[in-house]
Amino acid sequence: MCGIVGYIGKQRAVPILLDGLKSLEYRGYDSAGLAVFEGQRVVAEKAVGKVKALEEKVGSLGDSEARVGIAHTRWATHGGVTEANAHPHSDCGSKIWVVHNGIIENYKELKEKLMGSGHFFKSETDTEVIPHLIESFLKDKSADSLEEAVRQTLKLLKGTYGLVVLSADEPDLLVAARNFSPLLMGVGNDEYLIASDASAVLKHTKNVIYLDDGEMAVVTRNEHHIYDLNRNSIDKKTHTLDWDIESARKDGYPHFMLKEIMAEPEAIGNSTRGRLLPDDGNVVLGGLKDVERILRDAERVIISACGSAYLAGRVGEYMLEEYAGIPTEVDIASEFRYRKPVFRENDVLLVISQSGETADTLASLREAKEKNVPTLGIVNVVGSTISRYTDAGVYQHIGPEIGVAATKSFVSQASILALLTVFLGRKREMSITMGKRIVSELQKIPELMKGILQNKEVIKNLAVKYKDYEHFFYLGRKYNLPVAIEGALKIKEIAYVHAEGYGAGELKHGPIALIDKNFPTFAIAPQDSVYEKMVSNIEEIKARGGPVIAIGTEGDKSLEKVADDVIYIPKTLEMLTPLLTVVPLHLFAYYVGVEKGYDVDRPRNLAKSVTVE
Ligand code: AGP
Ligand code: GLU
Repeated sequence: MCGIVGYIGKQRAVPILLDGLKSLEYRGYDSAGLAVFEGQRVVAEKAVGKVKALEEKVGSLGDSEARVGIAHTRWATHGGVTEANAHPHSDCGSKIWVVHNGIIENYKELKEKLMGSGHFFKSETDTEVIPHLIESFLKDKSADSLEEAVRQTLKLLKGTYGLVVLSADEPDLLVAARNFSPLLMGVGNDEYLIASDASAVLKHTKNVIYLDDGEMAVVTRNEHHIYDLNRNSIDKKTHTLDWDIESARKDGYPHFMLKEIMAEPEAIGNSTRGRLLPDDGNVVLGGLKDVERILRDAERVIISACGSAYLAGRVGEYMLEEYAGIPTEVDIASEFRYRKPVFRENDVLLVISQSGETADTLASLREAKEKNVPTLGIVNVVGSTISRYTDAGVYQHIGPEIGVAATKSFVSQASILALLTVFLGRKREMSITMGKRIVSELQKIPELMKGILQNKEVIKNLAVKYKDYEHFFYLGRKYNLPVAIEGALKIKEIAYVHAEGYGAGELKHGPIALIDKNFPTFAIAPQDSVYEKMVSNIEEIKARGGPVIAIGTEGDKSLEKVADDVIYIPKTLEMLTPLLTVVPLHLFAYYVGVEKGYDVDRPRNLAKSVTVE
């Protein structure tokens, strides 16, 4: 999901490609590469690490007269961080070259078929099937042009892509295509740039054409044609951007944090994509294949993580115990590693970490490995230390999270814990009926989330109303207790407001003494198994004059009689409510931070990845 730059035009391509990659570096990546048509053939260079390393490898190619090329910064999803896995990838004849953002879900079966017909592969990536498929359609004459071969290839691909194709046999054009991974064309004078975001084209042109899902473009230096996959021509509007580079990187959003909250539906889509089996009421988690027997026999899951990842783990604890019937305990990694945990036969340690580099979480992992406890990971960054140290795991596939606050990574981790619950549950007592219910509800979550995000102005207005309070309680029960603590964490780290997440049942055991008109409470009260208890808690608070913002289920008008303000979320399974109730809390913290004039993407005293103890 990282960075793409293509160029075709009257200028030397290599400097433009390298400069374009540099403008995409903000997105985080692990390797880079480029390919240009030079004389009679395509020449490519790749490097692990930063674009600077690629620049050094490019060397004299930097003076090339090549006028067409493609380039990529990779955020690895399939295949480790190696030069061979860096893009662009080519066919057997090194004539057809492709850069790709996204995930080809069905790459394994395609690769097997291609290898069976004699194709040899140079990388472990999913991407590499694309140039070989294009090659096969040209070779067997079922396509008479690069454009047609790409079209036929796209029809076979399942998953997400933004991609650009360069061929030594048709070097006067580039072919681009988009499906769930952004791609646009910068329209210049006798030149085009194709990129995954506008920041790579703005230096050359402000005129851009956005490709939409299912569209492909054939681009020469002075014209372009856009089609759907049935070869129907599509007219697209040219937009003139008035963005500067910084706003281009945020896709027009004022902050990465808001961009990433708005991407929470897409994050769940990416984390569950290709893993749901609705007809079987089951899931497929390829990364756990080697440990299936261990997991079938597991008698306890111990979860260790930090911050928001720990809180996602706390949500998973309820899921795993209630629906998979497996004893689960969760600990903050900084405690776990020092408390001399007692491991038992058939324990499994699960660590959760977006960055895959958090020192305390890594230390927990080491502690378990020393005791020969099987270890699993839920990690976003492929090739990160934690992902390499665990015995098996599930990647989040949500692309880089730039804002310091964990937002899309939290919902991604909680959705993967729901997948793990079905995975383990269906190996135990979970019925196919229950499995189908969870899987079909999980499929609906991204759309339900979008509904909440469409009402973000309601939450912005609440942030304006409550921004000057100095203390908050966030209360929840069961699945929404971790969400309450996550909401409190967000407003602490983003708006520097003191807040405590608490089990609502604990209120009467002391904390209620703090309640007065200056101490507002968020009460997470969806219509679930503890709804009545939550309503009672709201009434207890109101009786003491405390303001209450309730999060309730759409249609539950009774909450408006007890709470001062209500934010509604759509109905879903109780175990999945955290995926929805957390969204207003992320938005609220963001808007309060913005109202207070703070740098919500880089809050004071914080780092995105805490690699020190
Ligand atoms: C959450 O908003 C914070 N950024 C922080 O608590 C974070 O969740 C924690 O440091 C864990 O990071 P990790 O997921 O990369 O391990
Ligand atoms: N899935 C591809 C890979 O792992 C592309 C990853 C990306 O979007 O950068 O190489």
